[in-house]
Parts: sequence; C-alpha cells; structure tokens
Amino acid sequence: MTNAAWQERKANAFARGMGNIFPIYVERALNTEVWDVEGKRYLDFGAGIAVVNTGHSHPEIVAAVKEQVERFSHTCVMVNPYPSAVELAERINAIVPIENARTMFCSTGAEAVENAIKIARSKTGRPGVIAFSGGFHGRTNLCMGLTGKVIPYKKGFGPFTPEIYHAPFPAEYLGVSAEDSLHALEALFKYDIDPARVAAIIIEPVQGEGGFYPVPRGFIGQLRQLCDQHGIVLIVDEIQSGYGRTGTMFAVETEGVEPDLITLAKGIAGGYPIAAVSGKAEVMNAPDPGGLGGTYAASPLGCAAGLAVLDIIERESLCQRAAEIGERLQAGLHALSDKHPGHIGDIRGKGAMVAMELVHDGDATRPDAELTASLSKQASEAGLLIISCGVRANVIRILVPLTIPFEQLDEGLEILGQVFEACIKA
Ligand SMILES: Cc1ncc(COP(=O)(O)O)c(C=O)c1O
Repeated sequence: MTNAAWQERKANAFARGMGNIFPIYVERALNTEVWDVEGKRYLDFGAGIAVVNTGHSHPEIVAAVKEQVERFSHTCVMVNPYPSAVELAERINAIVPIENARTMFCSTGAEAVENAIKIARSKTGRPGVIAFSGGFHGRTNLCMGLTGKVIPYKKGFGPFTPEIYHAPFPAEYLGVSAEDSLHALEALFKYDIDPARVAAIIIEPVQGEGGFYPVPRGFIGQLRQLCDQHGIVLIVDEIQSGYGRTGTMFAVETEGVEPDLITLAKGIAGGYPIAAVSGKAEVMNAPDPGGLGGTYAASPLGCAAGLAVLDIIERESLCQRAAEIGERLQAGLHALSDKHPGHIGDIRGKGAMVAMELVHDGDATRPDAELTASLSKQASEAGLLIISCGVRANVIRILVPLTIPFEQLDEGLEILGQVFEACIKA
C-alpha cells in the first residue's frame, strides 16, 4: 500500500486533532536512515523530536529490550519493583547536576512535568507556578496551562488550572532581554501573585517547540537567586534539551546552576516510553508514599532501554559528538545564509540543538512561515525529514541523532541547500 493510501485510511480512523507532519509511513529505520512503505529512503533530521538521540534501533538497545521482554514486561513498579528500575534511578541520580538526587519515574514528558509541579507544591504548600511565554511543557491540562503557545496546544481546550502565570521568555532575537524578563517577573510579584504563594518556576534552558531559543547566559542563575530569596522551587524542563543533545548531558550544566528539580523524557530511553523527575532529596521526598507513581511508571522495557542508552552515550562520547555536530551544522547553515542573504534571520543553538529562523528581507519582525513550511515539505520529498517550530512557525529545527555518520550529516545539508534554493526561487 502507498503512503497516500495509508494517509487516507488514517484520516478515516484517527481523530482529526492527531495530525502528522509528513504523510510518510515508516517501514523501518536504522540510526539516521528511515525507509517508508514505498521503499524510499530518508535522512531523519528530527530524531522523532529529539527522542532517538542514540539513533533508530540502536542494536544495543534492541538487544536489551529483547532480553527484558523475554523475562517479563510488566509487574507494576509500585507492586513488585525490579533491579533495573533501581539501577536506572541510581545512574540518573549520578548524572543530573544535583547533589544527593532522588528520582521518580512516569511514562511521558507531560507526566514528568505534572509530577514536578506536584512535588513542588507538596514541598512548599503553595499553589502558584510561573512559566514562560513560548514554553512547551506537554498536552495534559496542567501542562497546557504552563505552555506559552496558544495554537495549536491550548486553542479550545480551556479552562486551565488556576494559579499559573507567564513571564516573557528572554529571547533576544524577539526583542526580549534577560532584564526585560526579570522586570516582568518582578511585576508579576507586584501585581499578580505574592512570591510567598509561588511553589515553582519552570523553564526550558533551551526552548524547544517555542523556537530553539537558548536562555541568555546567567539568566538561570538569576532565577536561582530569585527562587532562593522567596523559597520557590526551580524546575528545569530538559525533556527536549537533555541527554547529551546540547553538548553536555544537560543544557543547564553550562550555567553552573543547581536546579531543585529536572524533568526528563524523550531521549532517556531511545524511543521506549519512560520519563522521570530527578531532584534534591529534600524536595523529591516531600510527597507521601503512594502519592507518586503510575501503572506503567518505570516500565521494565523503558528501564532496560534507559540503561543501554546511558552506556551508549558514555561509550560513544555522544556529548562531545553533539558539540561537533552542532559546529558542523552551524557552519553549513551559515554558508547557506551567505549564499542566499535576507532569508535566514538568525542561526542559533546549543550543541546539536540547532535552528535557523526564516524571515523576509533579514527583518526579525517579519517571520516567513510560508518558506518554513515549504522547505520542510519539499525537503521531505527530496529525502530529508526536517521539522519546524517557533511561536511564529518560522523556525527550522535540526535534531539529528547524535550517532549520525558525518557523511549523512553533510548529505542532509546538501539536500537542504538544494531545496532552499528551489523554494526561494519558486
Ligand atoms: C520541553 C518539553 N517538555 C514537555 C514535553 C512533553 O513531553 P511528552 O510529549 O512526552 O508528553 C515536551 C515534548 O515535546 C517538551 O519538548
């Protein structure tokens, strides 16, 4: 059956709200390569939205999962735990940039964020949460409330939970400086909520869905000071930016700041649904036994995959590789920008979380969402899967597997260059 035929069947079977970017139906995938049901090959520059950082079907992860599934697939960790869950928690505690950390498991990123807020509220006894404009934290009710982007995530889905406030994210390219953002926080404390009623501030160290804006250096440190001053829990959401993606295990590491809690998902098990919250023991241990968990929390397959992922990241030096990939990608995008001036307003990123923001005539205030959409579409037709993001839908983001061979990185950049030229001439 063709991609088109599957897409038609999907339209008649799925709810309309579950859209798909590419009408390309996958048959198999290996590392950076994906083959569709028609036998066509693609390079995957999206890694399932930063999930297969270790590549599709890494043989070591496949072997670990197979070994586990033959022994058992589920007991419920809250009924009968198993050694792999404890080992994974220990290993995560050892890599998060937090002293004396504890970890809890759940199944998805949104659940990790929900749990981080639950834990912060339990610790502080306070209701309020502050998040940032353009942030994305998931699709559950609380997470939608935290998310700072209406279309498509919030439109028609309210009411959201009370006591959530937004401050502008410090994205210099959008004209918001770190000072602006801090002033807005002070204003929030003055006009909207007493800081003594705020349980948590949650921030992505590099905004993902919002447009790949890394926080200005020092900003998270300033949030840390603010949180310390008012007894607020600082949560960094590293669901997209974590696990080697930005050149260090976690993006917040380069800030030299110890968050109270950190949310993890996506890359932590290379495609198996497991997520986690890690944090300072005195914060993590606030909820009573039974208050945290979930039927599939710490699923045995996720734990097996999660342990294999950590081995691979370490052995294949994927953090260092992310930094090298980032440099190569940025060089490629700068060459493209030099060749076709006026279309690429900004090239930015941290490690292998790289983006280009498309605008009209080099003007940051005139986003080019049409070029962004046609670039992504035409690249996919040319064999390159590359996705967009951004509050103005004008950012092309690159999230290659960190295991990508450099020849394929260059091959993808070559395709991108050709498609870019075709799109701007069209
Ligand atoms: C920063 C961030 N937080 C939370 C989430 C939600 O994760 P999930 O889709 O696994 O619920 C995402 C997903 O894209 C994310 O990028």
